[in-house]
Amino acid sequence: MNRHTQANPATLHQPTRHDSAPKHVSGSAEYIDDIVEPEGTLHAYLALSERAHAEISAIDLDAVRKSPGVVGVLTSADIPGDNDVSPAHKHDEPVFADKLVQFWGQPMFAVVAETREAARRAAHQARIEYRDLDWIPDVRTAQAAGGRMVTEPLKLERGDVDAGLASAPRRLKGEIRIGGQDHFYLEGHIAMVVPGEDEDVTVYSSTQHPSEVQLMVSHVLGIHQHAVTVNVRRMGGGFGGKETQGNLFAAVAALAAKRFNRAVKIRPDRDDDMTATGKRHDFVVDYEVGFDDEGRILAVDAVYGANGGFSSDLTGPVSDRALFHCDNAYFYPAVRARSEPLYTNTVSNTAFRGFGGPQGMVGCERWVEDIAYALGKDPLEIRKLNFYGTDTNNVTPYHQAVGDNIIHRIVDELESSSDYQKRREAVRTFNRENAILKKGIALTPVKFGISFTATWYNQGGALVHVYRDGSVHLSHGGTEMGQGLHIKVAQVLADAFGLGISEVKITATTTGKVPNTSATAASSGSDLNGMAAYDAAQQIKRRLVTHAAQVYKCEEDACQWVAGGLQAGDEFVPFKELIASAYLNRVQLSAAGFYKTPKIHWDRATGRGHPFYYFAYGASVSEVTIDTLTGEYTVDRVDILHDVGRSLNPAVDMGQVEGGFIQGMGWLTTEELNWDDKGRLRTHAPSTYKIPLASDVPPIFNVKLAEWSQNAEPTIGRSKAVGEPPLMLAISVVEALSMAVASVADYKVAPRLDTPVTPERVLFGVERMREAKA
Ligand code: MTE
Ligand code: MOS
Repeated sequence: MNRHTQANPATLHQPTRHDSAPKHVSGSAEYIDDIVEPEGTLHAYLALSERAHAEISAIDLDAVRKSPGVVGVLTSADIPGDNDVSPAHKHDEPVFADKLVQFWGQPMFAVVAETREAARRAAHQARIEYRDLDWIPDVRTAQAAGGRMVTEPLKLERGDVDAGLASAPRRLKGEIRIGGQDHFYLEGHIAMVVPGEDEDVTVYSSTQHPSEVQLMVSHVLGIHQHAVTVNVRRMGGGFGGKETQGNLFAAVAALAAKRFNRAVKIRPDRDDDMTATGKRHDFVVDYEVGFDDEGRILAVDAVYGANGGFSSDLTGPVSDRALFHCDNAYFYPAVRARSEPLYTNTVSNTAFRGFGGPQGMVGCERWVEDIAYALGKDPLEIRKLNFYGTDTNNVTPYHQAVGDNIIHRIVDELESSSDYQKRREAVRTFNRENAILKKGIALTPVKFGISFTATWYNQGGALVHVYRDGSVHLSHGGTEMGQGLHIKVAQVLADAFGLGISEVKITATTTGKVPNTSATAASSGSDLNGMAAYDAAQQIKRRLVTHAAQVYKCEEDACQWVAGGLQAGDEFVPFKELIASAYLNRVQLSAAGFYKTPKIHWDRATGRGHPFYYFAYGASVSEVTIDTLTGEYTVDRVDILHDVGRSLNPAVDMGQVEGGFIQGMGWLTTEELNWDDKGRLRTHAPSTYKIPLASDVPPIFNVKLAEWSQNAEPTIGRSKAVGEPPLMLAISVVEALSMAVASVADYKVAPRLDTPVTPERVLFGVERMREAKA
């Protein structure tokens, strides 16, 4: 048997390991900093502003230029094209600030030197005089100052909210402050650019969005997009932080490469990466909710204030997605939700796993919790009472009906598999019997909308070649950041051709092969690119069947794809043989595939439409113990049941669910960003910014995929997107901490913890409870 027919073709839906796993663990996976540098490669480094908001009155770069090893300095005056990398095309994000500085850490110029160290040292030699201006540090200050928006706010409205609130038997108001988050990808931002003939540049960029890097580089250099080729084999994590934030680095390296006609690499230190690039938006949510004595929600009125930072970037769509998740899994008879995408003088906040959805849900779960404490009930009871129905009570604030609601089954199964009710009783008993240590337990649901809300982004492309030996070359528009997209798409292709996975070559993403791609984001990578690759395979397969019908003298209908080849009438033709014969008969063995998500539409002006193709669901139960003397706590046990439809790869999906949960837990508990009174980020390294460690994984961590779930829509293999939704499962940790704190005042007062719920916040919460009780 030849090696093509003996491989196990049953690859789709199997727990195939990540294609790069052995390379990841052995250190042989190639990241941009590992690419062999062309001879004479120069290194660029950014100089960052040291004011939050100021006019630049004088700038003296003499000492920089004279610094050892320096080849040149680039300022805004050296930009042949546009001094702008705004992904929102608002022209509000300069590559280099020239007259005005808008946040502490804004790039002002770049030094290009023979070594990275020389460039880095020289960048600090500039003498800059600033004229300080008033500046806006946060959401509340921005709102008090009149609320300048970086982009048009959104309003979602359904039903009569004022009447609903006025007639509700009970009402309450509140606010929650939700902190931001640094992406803390292991590989920081980096780009290397090799200049070519004429206008040409070849860009290696750690980006989730090669097509946009291509566009931005072309704008900044003032050249055609066709002259720019962007390549990315893999990122060492992106998490949304490389959806737009890579533009700047690629643009600077490209400028320098063209200017000096040498390859140029740029890689900021971790501290500078954290200081200069955008993060998850911090929010302040103000809400009023009307409900009845059972806890049924009657009306919700909420304002989501988002810290957009100094430029628009993705703040519009991020704050939109927060509103799209102000309902989580709950039906509101009347609702009005408004976004305030606010301008401030911080770094421009950006995409981060969940893209505003998590902040939307944290707000929502806060008023659900408030209702529970007001009525003295288990928050889970309130949750279940308010879940969307399946046929009735299923219309969202954006007027899309929830057509695929499985939250009831998910929550019921998890409630019993985690033994929630018994454990909650045990927790209450523990709290009665223990004065210092207190426990809490909570079950929270997740419903997350899948599709880019900018409808046009919901397209994917692939380019598939079959070579003469029957091996397959796969290229698609998505990027790999550790999430396992490439292996999933390779599985789709292997399955389509009846081949083993090793017959499919995964290649770097490049704008030269698949053009005009969307960011690999919104969890839609496998939905879009998996389908596009499938489409390409179908085209090639159709040609092969036509060919086989002629050669083996059978009807096309009598041709059947089986493992390892084609059954053409009575004849089994191994794939390799079929390809060899097709080649000799001049059959085209390459195809470009394409896919666009059906059904979706969205009208932002009216706040109505069908923005999501489907929803992904999940639920989690967390149990915690707090120390009421210090505020320290442990997360003792977590149970998760998560819906990925019919999994394309259960091994990869489990990794996404576990990793997403832990990343969400970090955001909501220990990862605290701290800016000082000058607007300087003080938590710009792991010494002060606390991401979860391996030791923070709960000692009992029961994670399960809802194996019975299938996507009701005909997605690739009936799977569902998995990248972002699990992050929001971590909200149960907040709610469990909340219960533990509330126990101090006999669960009679809502503890209203802001996030991240650091040990300090737990301690202050406990003190508030003690005062309330006294
Ligand atoms: N998983 C890993 N390991 N690394 C990442 O950077 N990014 C997340 C998620 N999972 C990320 C990850 C984010 S923000 C998104 S949108 C999705 O992966 C993107 O990939 P997908 O569309 O292929 O799921
Ligand atoms: Mo993910 S935040 O959509 O890159």
